[in-house]
Amino acid sequence: MEVLKAEHVSFSYRNRYQTVHAVNDVSCTFECGKVYAIVGKSGSGKSTFLSLLAGLELPGAGTVAFKGVATAKMDCDLYRRDHAAVIYQNYNLFPLLTAMENVLYSMNLKGVRSQKAKERAEKELLAVGIKKEQFKRYPPQLSGGEQQRVAIARALAAGNEIILADEPTGNLDVSNSEQVVRILLRLAHEENRCVIIITHDPEIAGLTDKVYTMRDGSLSES
Ligand SMILES: Nc1ncnc2c1ncn2[C@@H]1O[C@H](COP(=O)(O)OP(=O)(O)O)[C@@H](O)[C@H]1O
Ligand SMILES: [Mg+2]
Repeated sequence: MEVLKAEHVSFSYRNRYQTVHAVNDVSCTFECGKVYAIVGKSGSGKSTFLSLLAGLELPGAGTVAFKGVATAKMDCDLYRRDHAAVIYQNYNLFPLLTAMENVLYSMNLKGVRSQKAKERAEKELLAVGIKKEQFKRYPPQLSGGEQQRVAIARALAAGNEIILADEPTGNLDVSNSEQVVRILLRLAHEENRCVIIITHDPEIAGLTDKVYTMRDGSLSES
């Protein structure tokens, strides 16, 4: 099922001194049940495109649509809360909340009751390989790979069908990267989520279902 669609999307950063055309006339569709990679040189517009897909920025021209509704016409905070989770290279966990509390937070935002939320959080943390004795640790007391897996559990617990990951393995060693990518593949293939990964790593791109290359703001199928 087609869940996310970009049609002739362009975006420029403007300030007093210059205009940077970061994304130029990009069209593509993303389906549930598949993992996509977006590769390309630094500065080619990958993160900007992901921000557009996440509704963190709105297109200057064209549309990004989730199930037929343009991001420009929706409440993008709700869109990210309920449908599109964003995962970053630096994990972005709340440092003063434990692993468990980080996951619970995303469900509390949605009003899931505490006992149910706790069970769900436990299930998702275990599913990404975080052990029970680690639930009460704070992010700085976890390794990078563990923190990234908590970030994924947080996205999962919220039930979002789209996972947008910007260099999710950028700070991880080979074995942790593999583990994180395997989790993302499973989410798409077994839980029917749509996963979009920005990556520098050709090996990771090779594991996905479809690879797009970004060049100077333009997207092409590889
Ligand atoms: N906030 C910003 N203001 C101005 N230019 C920006 C900003 N963010 C990114 N850019 C520029 O937009 C282009 C695309 O950047 P980005 O999407 O971050 O590329 P990538 O993720 O592929 O490295 C680059 O030329 C970058 O310098
Ligand atoms: Mg980037």
